[in-house]
Amino acid sequence: MIEHTAIDYAITLDEKDPLRSFRDEFVLPDENTIYLDGNSLGMLPRLCADRLHETIHHEWGNRLIRSWNESWIDLPRRLGAKIAHLIGAGEDEVLVCDATSINLFKLIVAALRLKPGRKTILSDVLNFPSDLYILQGAMDLLGQGHRIELIPSLDGISIAQDDLDARITEDTAVVCLSQVAFKSAYLYDMEAVTRRAHAAGAYVLWDLSHSAGILPINLSACQADMAVGCTYKYLNGGPGAPAYMYVRQDLQEQLIPPLWGWFGTEKQFEFALNYTPASGMQRFQVGTPPILSMAALEPALDLLLKAGIDPIRQKSVQQTSYLIELADRWLAPSGFSLGSPRQAERRGSHVSLRHPEAYRICRALIEASPPEVIVLPDFRAPDNIRLGIAPLYTRFIDIHAAMQRIREIVSKNEYLKYSAHRQQVT
Ligand SMILES: Cc1ncc(COP(=O)(O)O)c(C=O)c1O
Repeated sequence: MIEHTAIDYAITLDEKDPLRSFRDEFVLPDENTIYLDGNSLGMLPRLCADRLHETIHHEWGNRLIRSWNESWIDLPRRLGAKIAHLIGAGEDEVLVCDATSINLFKLIVAALRLKPGRKTILSDVLNFPSDLYILQGAMDLLGQGHRIELIPSLDGISIAQDDLDARITEDTAVVCLSQVAFKSAYLYDMEAVTRRAHAAGAYVLWDLSHSAGILPINLSACQADMAVGCTYKYLNGGPGAPAYMYVRQDLQEQLIPPLWGWFGTEKQFEFALNYTPASGMQRFQVGTPPILSMAALEPALDLLLKAGIDPIRQKSVQQTSYLIELADRWLAPSGFSLGSPRQAERRGSHVSLRHPEAYRICRALIEASPPEVIVLPDFRAPDNIRLGIAPLYTRFIDIHAAMQRIREIVSKNEYLKYSAHRQQVT
């Protein structure tokens, strides 16, 4: 039996890892750098660079305007169909377009209009604040007396399902939640929440930004109404890559998007003077899609589809559990506490470790110079070091080295050398 804190244990786990060859599909940072922020910006798949080269030089440089008919015009739907396989939706239920924030705005306005008698949007205090801003802006614009109710969290990590259940009432129009919380990684039971909301006649709108590509999602089986999500995190689409949106098929014709643009009309090149929404998901498109960013996303999605979500989830659970085990042994004695659920079934693929000096510890991890190992996590106020596990490229030895490095920074007081002044992006 190898002691779990021994490096040999991590090496053995990597040797047994069925996904280990996928790491070679990515452009790797310097050997000395450990990347634990794939939950914020996924690493660059090698094929994305090739695809971009092809799109720029051949499709744009040579084929020019002809490329719209040859391949570009269908990209939002073609990419949507690939994402559909990752989130358990029909191929004609998902569209890639705009940013997550914009897609959330389009859907919440359309959904609220379909429930005119109901005035409450139910969300929670763990939700990504920008999602809450979008909801607030939509309510302000509609001016129909809507309100947001936020489910509290007793421990700052999780939400009690029975509390949520009790707050869904006849006045609830939409339950709008992140399936995995951005800070703590708390994971909702999508099926249970959706069932409860439907029983009360409310819609559910999921933000899948921190769950898609990392755990099995079955929107169709849950009969989920609507969803949005980012593609630059676990889907590895690149900085600012366009987002996606899902609408259950039978709802698509009922929802009227609030942004009426020519890409959302049926016969856009007839240039009619009045707007008529296209049928299906196309009505949610607004303006010209960012083709270069979309092109980069396709090979990244193909990699995830090739690996398969079940093995990815299996490895993710194994790795986050391993990280927590090392944190318990090595870091808890020096003031760290776990900011994520202990129960793997209720946890996404990142782990937050809380410490009063979390920001300076993060700076020490990031700004180290060789021969020290450089670790790239991120910081989420007030005191979370967020460590993201992306099973396609994270190794067990990376987790071991990162945890050892955190222990060293704290035991030698190295973080005291760093400024507590927060950078613009943390
Ligand atoms: C859960 C969640 N929702 C929404 C967003 C916002 O996405 P965008 O900036 O693409 O609109 C983010 C960004 O990180 C996020 O983490």
